[in-house]
Amino acid sequence: MTSIASRSEGRPPGFSYREIHKGFLRRRPVAVSLQCDDIPLERLAERYGTPLYVYSASTIRERMRSFEHAFRKVPHTVCYSVKANSSLGILRLLAAMGCGFDVVSGGELERVLRVDRRTAKRVVFSGVGKTAEEMQAALKAGVLLFNVESEAELWRLAECAARTREKARIALRVNPDVPANTHPYISTGLHQHKFGIPIAEARKLYAQASGTRYLRVEGVSVHIGSQITDVQPFGLAMERVAELVRALQADRHRIQYVDAGGGLGIAYQEQEQPSFAEQAAEYASALLGPLRGLKVHLLLEPGRAIVGPAGALLTRVLYRKMNGAKQFVVVDAAMNDLVRPSLYNAYHEIIPARLDINASRHETVDVVGPICETGDFFARDRELPVTDEGDLLAILDAGAYGMALTSNYNTRHRPPEVLVDGKSAKLIRRRETIDDLLRPEIKLR
Ligand code: LLP
Repeated sequence: MTSIASRSEGRPPGFSYREIHKGFLRRRPVAVSLQCDDIPLERLAERYGTPLYVYSASTIRERMRSFEHAFRKVPHTVCYSVKANSSLGILRLLAAMGCGFDVVSGGELERVLRVDRRTAKRVVFSGVGKTAEEMQAALKAGVLLFNVESEAELWRLAECAARTREKARIALRVNPDVPANTHPYISTGLHQHKFGIPIAEARKLYAQASGTRYLRVEGVSVHIGSQITDVQPFGLAMERVAELVRALQADRHRIQYVDAGGGLGIAYQEQEQPSFAEQAAEYASALLGPLRGLKVHLLLEPGRAIVGPAGALLTRVLYRKMNGAKQFVVVDAAMNDLVRPSLYNAYHEIIPARLDINASRHETVDVVGPICETGDFFARDRELPVTDEGDLLAILDAGAYGMALTSNYNTRHRPPEVLVDGKSAKLIRRRETIDDLLRPEIKLR
């Protein structure tokens, strides 16, 4: 129990244990109960059912402020990466803080515009395969910047802009050929990846773009991958970008923006970790060192670092079962609700919503979901406090790429989402119904 309690102490205020006292004098705690901000998770699970995503607004705000603070000395805009968690309730919270947004599809753009149309001027449009329709919608909305990823895309954008007689402000996303120590599926900055334009070819393309009537060269962008916990590769990529910016300025391009992308990782597993303020400061100094002396406005696209630790997936134990010597804990959430363990073999801490002080028995288990695949697991050979049928578990650090990657596999309904803010809890998305799922399909007579 101590390890769980100490981990919760080191965590941001979002999810922490509070003591439950019993008896007349209420002197001795009998158990600890996990809360999100000021609300016990057990209460939320009873009210909204499980599986359930729960987010802490205070954690999101605190992380956003720490991130902003780390870059306070330079002109910058934080463009939260919508793909990490695109729920309108979360976007609204961030928009209210003055945040910009990084979008990668017409759908994400539409979400941001529905939250507040005025945010368009703080929106960057990234992605390797933008369609003409998506470009048109972004031009119409008046987004700040298109991060263009290929020569072919550049000419498509020029055509779209000419059609609407609107100048498209562009940055080329360059591929700096920098390795990032992360899962191969989410590493993006090496020359063999599909992303960006090889940095050595960028100068030529900038020259062509600047001669095109409906394009306006404004920046350089880069993104080397996600869940990167060592800041060195960020610094290395930024050195290459800074060198390119100097060359482009010498070529008389007006480079106003450097978009550093996202990618700052979070500690899914480590119990001892520096505060987020310290991590953000370290990240900022890695980026800012190489940019010193360049007069540019920095754009940042963090996703996971802002919302990851602010969310948990709540799930109840359905059954316990033994297969041979192996103990399984079957829960009511599955890979369709949180795919990261199945897809990236990702580690997510799992802790019980209630722990009795006197019962500290542990066991080694696999925590698995009801889906018909062996890959449907949340933890393998994990030491956990002994749980029983009906117990509530919290799968932590699920605020980023959790809900955003859900599916209806096995015709399962996507879970609802609750945003907790201090003492209040708001349902920001209800549980899907079978009618929601069947609506797009043909009707059978
Ligand atoms: N900017 C661009 C251009 C990106 O491609 C991404 C993420 C971000 C910003 C935000 O990165 P972040 O700060 O969140 O690391 N589903 C995976 C992560 C995929 C990341 C894709 N791109 C996961 O669950 O780990």
